[in-house]
Amino acid sequence: MKYNFWLTKSPSQLQDASEKTELRKTLRAIDLAALGIGSVVGTGIFVATGQGAHLAGPGVLLSFIIAAITSGFCALTYSELACMFPVAGSTYSYAYVAFGELIAWIIGWDLMLEYMVSASAVASGWSSTFVGLLETAGIKLPKALVTAPLAGGIIDLPAILIVLAITWILYLGIRESSTTNNIIVVIKIAVILLFVFLGFSKVDLANFRPFAPFGWKGIMSGAAIIFFAYIGFDAVSTAAEETRNPKRDVPLGLMLCLAVVILLYVSVAFVLTGMVPFKEIDLENALPAALARYGIRWGGALVATGAIVGMISTLIITIYGQVRIFMVMARDGLLPASFSRIHPAHKTPHICTWITGIVTAFIAGVLPLSMIIDLVNIGTLFAFIIVSLGVIILRKTRPDLERRFRVPGVPFTPLITIAFCFYLIASLHLTTWLRFAGWITAGLFIYFFYGLRHSQLQREYQMNLSHSKK
Ligand code: ALA
Repeated sequence: MKYNFWLTKSPSQLQDASEKTELRKTLRAIDLAALGIGSVVGTGIFVATGQGAHLAGPGVLLSFIIAAITSGFCALTYSELACMFPVAGSTYSYAYVAFGELIAWIIGWDLMLEYMVSASAVASGWSSTFVGLLETAGIKLPKALVTAPLAGGIIDLPAILIVLAITWILYLGIRESSTTNNIIVVIKIAVILLFVFLGFSKVDLANFRPFAPFGWKGIMSGAAIIFFAYIGFDAVSTAAEETRNPKRDVPLGLMLCLAVVILLYVSVAFVLTGMVPFKEIDLENALPAALARYGIRWGGALVATGAIVGMISTLIITIYGQVRIFMVMARDGLLPASFSRIHPAHKTPHICTWITGIVTAFIAGVLPLSMIIDLVNIGTLFAFIIVSLGVIILRKTRPDLERRFRVPGVPFTPLITIAFCFYLIASLHLTTWLRFAGWITAGLFIYFFYGLRHSQLQREYQMNLSHSKK
């Protein structure tokens, strides 16, 4: 049997698959922006900000800006590809056209870090915020049941339960999930603004000196962690297939989402590091603890409640994105066909939704946040590098394709994006690189033992070969 790892899909093959979809096409630009904000604002700002501040000092403000610039560049490149191929499947689908099957698989496998493992990280942050809020209300849950085994407990039960509840909502369908998301987005923007409003008058400029106690290295390490807080805007492109007018609405939704998020984060970082000396910022519960420090307990409780609700939408969108990517990979034969089966009544890929939910819940239940956040970041940055390369390559190989949104300054803009992503990757630990290499190697094994033998494209290739022999 002869295989060709470099088989590419034609853009029309992608579009055909999309047109045949049974998913509903209901989303507009504003829904997409809400989807983006719903996905992006979560554990990162509410929980990981403390970790970033401990690494960078008040210079975490710069870490937020560097991570934002990187994300902004990535959003630009994403928009070009998402408009050309308005299909579920994100980077995986683009890579199939630009680079061929093997790289597409590697990216699909890599995206599990950005979506599924990231959802587990968010659930773990949700659990710690939830447990913290209960404790302020005087309710103490047994530590062993709310802590992952690798962090000294038995299981993180709240993290598991929240993931399973969300899986059920997603199983019911996009319309329900989108409405729920819109409500949650309003709540979380409101509590972030509340934090900024309540904390602003407590800012003491003395807390900004020294601004960068650990130098540039500290700021970059902070940025590599804080990057997690921006992950998720590309979930917008995974919903392209369910969008009414993807060519216009996807770039618009992405940019709107990112503009709102950057403003919110930089304001939070300024107020938080101005209110509290960086060494004293709470690692698990940064924003509520900062308000409580000044006796504003009601404000702290309100922010914690909003954070708990807010993280739910992050979970919804992240798991949703993962399910759609799996579904597309299954349509291509790289995963079992049952992953792409659509429920006749709910119109959702129900089997895939439950499998994704159960695996996410398992990871969330056993691994602590600090162990997975770096891995999620390296996986996502890697995906962004591929997207940027994809833009450059497709401009050369397929200049004929219609681009309703064109990244300005190609090839320089994608090259700058790649440089930013590499710089952030270089600021992560060597152990993270090694874990990532292990993850990709495991993926390659699966491809050679399963994907390659079941791929639709390889099947067509075999048929063409046998025809040409006759
Ligand atoms: N950006 C997402 C969060 O902050 C993953 O939780």
